[in-house]
Amino acid sequence: VSDVGLIIPAAGSGIRLGSQKDKALTLLRGQPLLAWALRAFETFPDIVERVVVVPPGREDRFRERILGLPGLEREVEIVTGGDERQDSVARGLAAMTGKASWILVHDAARPLVSRGLIRRVLDALEEGESVVPALPLRDSVARAGPEPWIESYEDRGRLLSVQTPQGFHAQVLDHAFQRARADGFTGTDEASLVLRMNHPVTWTEGDPRNIKITYPEDLALAEAILSGGDRDEGTDEKRRAVDEDREGEP
Ligand code: CTP
Ligand code: MG
Repeated sequence: VSDVGLIIPAAGSGIRLGSQKDKALTLLRGQPLLAWALRAFETFPDIVERVVVVPPGREDRFRERILGLPGLEREVEIVTGGDERQDSVARGLAAMTGKASWILVHDAARPLVSRGLIRRVLDALEEGESVVPALPLRDSVARAGPEPWIESYEDRGRLLSVQTPQGFHAQVLDHAFQRARADGFTGTDEASLVLRMNHPVTWTEGDPRNIKITYPEDLALAEAILSGGDRDEGTDEKRRAVDEDREGEP
């Protein structure tokens, strides 16, 4: 697909991470999480427009910290987010110029997204209108009863752990957001809004390295993944970009 718009919600405050503010600017190997995420999308020619959604009042700080970093030369629009992730993505959508026929939404909190995964999602969009990267669950899954009891076990075989970037036809996503707003529905991600309109959503294989930074230990995990000698081209490229950023540092 061509004519893709990218929305990166980065307006969360990071309560679980314990960051005072601006979780997306938390450093991983000296680079903001948001910079890692954005860089992965930098070299896709089909991505024609990019919007980053940031916490209210933090627009200038984000511009200072992100714009013009090495490996981030392409244009990015900074827009102001809302209370919930869904509000932030809605504002990102509203800021799109309309030239994108397809939309990718990717969390700033997933810095290790690889170019290979982005490619997979874009390729899957050729086949269907909405696609999410997902992984079958590894652990057994149980339903909790009243503390401290386990009530029952779920059939893990049909459960998936859903990641970003998620891809959509722009009109389908617009429609899904309008409907969610009209119904007062809040979902955890975009695909959940699309699915509740009975539009089909497909999944493609996610990436176990594409973790979401939620708790402080996730930063250590991301660091370990980067040190782990994985051979993913996207991550390698980002590692190089980080090294270049560091050139000339004292
Ligand atoms: N997000 C957003 N606007 C919000 C809330 C979240 O743009 N009002 C974004 C976050 O910046 C993040 C993504 O949605 O990139 C996933 O959110 P999450 O991991 O929950 O981050 P936070 O909301 O910042 O963390 P917490 O829930 O612990 O406060
Ligand atoms: Mg949150």
